[in-house]
Amino acid sequence: MSKELPKGFLWGGATADFQYEGGFEEGGRGISSHDYETDGSKDHPRHHTMKMPDGTIIEPNSSFILADPVPKDAQPVFLDDQYYPSHKAVDFYHHYKEDIKLMAGMGFNVYRFSISWSRIFPTGEEEQPNKAGLKFYDDVINEMVKYGMEPLITICHDEMPVNLALKYDGWNSRRVIDDYVKYAKVLFEHFGDRCKYWLTFNEINAVRGFGPTGVRNSQGQDRYQADHNMFVASAKTVKMGHEMMPNSQFGTMFAMSAAYAATCKPEDMFHSLQENRENWYFIDVMGRGYYPKYADELLQRHNVEKLQMEPEDTQILKEGQLDFIAFSYYRSSTTKAGDEWFNVGGSSNPYLKETPWGWPVDPLGLRYTMNEIYDRIQKPIFIVENGMGAIDQADENGYVEDDYRIDYLKDHLSAMSDAINIDHVPCLGYTMWAPIDLVSLSTGEMKKRYGFVYVDMDDKGNGTLKRTPKKSYKWMKHIIETNGAALDETN
Ligand code: BG6
Repeated sequence: MSKELPKGFLWGGATADFQYEGGFEEGGRGISSHDYETDGSKDHPRHHTMKMPDGTIIEPNSSFILADPVPKDAQPVFLDDQYYPSHKAVDFYHHYKEDIKLMAGMGFNVYRFSISWSRIFPTGEEEQPNKAGLKFYDDVINEMVKYGMEPLITICHDEMPVNLALKYDGWNSRRVIDDYVKYAKVLFEHFGDRCKYWLTFNEINAVRGFGPTGVRNSQGQDRYQADHNMFVASAKTVKMGHEMMPNSQFGTMFAMSAAYAATCKPEDMFHSLQENRENWYFIDVMGRGYYPKYADELLQRHNVEKLQMEPEDTQILKEGQLDFIAFSYYRSSTTKAGDEWFNVGGSSNPYLKETPWGWPVDPLGLRYTMNEIYDRIQKPIFIVENGMGAIDQADENGYVEDDYRIDYLKDHLSAMSDAINIDHVPCLGYTMWAPIDLVSLSTGEMKKRYGFVYVDMDDKGNGTLKRTPKKSYKWMKHIIETNGAALDETN
């Protein structure tokens, strides 16, 4: 079976503002909940810098999955002896023309990027948006349109204006729903004429804690209440978006890491069913428009007494269902009875190799995941993140021979093609994470590189920021110009 993909398939890349954009204090941008995160590494987790009323500095772990609770009276602070990667990131703010040209050079016909909420509403509470913020994204979108690239916009990629986090405990408060809908409305008014594809949230099933959801206690009742409020905000936004932009299509992005059972022991199999529901819970509510029956059991497991819902929420969720299911796929995981819930690391899988960051490499898991989602939700899917974080060795010109990245992508794209061509899963497109090197979300380092383009910058922000295409750049260009047919070729 040929690997060539159906005509009109969207090929591109994906980035997130606080990992890529920089321009922290420019154009009237307010402070985002990610701005207090330090750099880090696999062995030394990045953390928020927070101060207690008595002056003590505390450093809660800011990993997007397992954030430590942040005491109520702790306030975020910037410390002179710390490096905060989001402030400069890799400076897309001043390199957007060059970067978009590089993406267009590979033949991208879509580019997924996120808008920084605090660039549009610096505190989240203003009545009027920040004009300079809108202008920046206008310029970015116009530049993409010039090259025939379709924008795929993430409205909220794991962050919010820090003011909303501090004043209202982030998504724990229902009033943040209105702040979000006001923000989304402004985006639709300004960019809706050029943008058809939207994602209301990034990895909504994975994000927790102070940075991503603004919530100080990221477990149990607080976490699931915040999620419910995000579901309502998304559904209201989808409905409004459809009314304002009749051709628009909406997704939310889910982090998918199929949890295989470690053995066929019935207890392990049942544990894997329940572990997978940790993700399905989110996709089912947003993709089908109602809470599944198993939600009661899942919430009890997380010590949630009762979610606070308004009588109109049932109707809102029904009316604001997603048009397509977007997801990230980097790896599968393996689980067995007794493992912690939502343990992405899980038990190890003896059949798979791992990246230097311990992420199992499982291309067939992508085909598996695509089929699973479509079988269950019966809506088109969109792979909006996939890629390999690796340690690149650049030569004196910044050139990298990244054959390992080519191998990873070739195997995953082949599996994707099989899901589309053999299993007939309708898939709108593929946006690789991340076409230009940027800062890692989980570790805050630059060393974990994903790009087709090398950026000369180290973990502490030193470097010229010079962009140099890697070997994989030319390879991907060839895959795209043949619409996937070249996946059949040997390297
Ligand atoms: C996803 C996020 O979790 O994975 C991205 O949406 C993130 O923001 C990506 O960068 C890869 O993770 P990491 O930790 O290697 O940057």
